[in-house]
Amino acid sequence: MSNELQHIAIIMDGNGRWAKSRGLPRSAGHKQGAETLRKIAESAADMGLKYLTVYAFSTENWQRPQEEVDYLMGLLRQYLKSELKELQEHGARICFVGERNMLDADIVAQMAKIEADTVDNDKFTLCIALSYGSRQEIVAAVKNIAQAVKSGKNDIADINEKLISDSLYTKNIPDPDLVIRTSGEQRISNYLLWQIAYSELFFTKTLWPDFTVDELKSIINEYQSRERRYGKV
Ligand code: IPE
Ligand code: IPE
Ligand code: MG
Repeated sequence: MSNELQHIAIIMDGNGRWAKSRGLPRSAGHKQGAETLRKIAESAADMGLKYLTVYAFSTENWQRPQEEVDYLMGLLRQYLKSELKELQEHGARICFVGERNMLDADIVAQMAKIEADTVDNDKFTLCIALSYGSRQEIVAAVKNIAQAVKSGKNDIADINEKLISDSLYTKNIPDPDLVIRTSGEQRISNYLLWQIAYSELFFTKTLWPDFTVDELKSIINEYQSRERRYGKV
């Protein structure tokens, strides 16, 4: 028996500790982490996975020192120009979830362009959670639904799980089958709370910059051996 696997969500954690253990600034860890993402996204596409959602920057991460935030935004600008272009050339669809109004206008414009340019690619989707917080996403969804009820577009009786799912940033993406968090922390940190109701969770001590395609494959093997019961017997 094997489980269906179309969507993996990753919490890419441990960049700072990776750098610290080498006596390097935290920025060096983020740079190496971006390189790991490139490799993992490419091989996920090659393996035939349909969706990969990665947590790149949380709403809470805005509270980090300005210097670190600036570095991460610079890295993102570079990433939007080079790495993502390459994935795009390989036929990947790229999309973003999160609070865009927190980001600089040039970054938002680049994001919108990549999304528009790749919207018809349907083999593999890389979804980047950026300035993302799941509770904020749920608050925004509740406001939209309340507005729709107030204006008469929806009835209270129309509110169901599907309407809520369709009101989230992730509306066109199926729920993750598997969530992987690197770096040894065993928490969700405000990631996809609604969407992971029945996802399988996997925590590895490997720091994100050290994460490899081989480890991803062995996690997928373990996932295949798990029994997903969804409350049944
Ligand atoms: C994950 O690595 C990347 C971001 C949150 C942007 P961290 O920067 O959280 O690295 P640690 O957890 O401090 O090692
Ligand atoms: C979660 O990692 C966010 C990302 C990986 C982008 P954090 O390092 O911000 O989470 P906490 O602070 O350990 O919960
Ligand atoms: Mg961290």
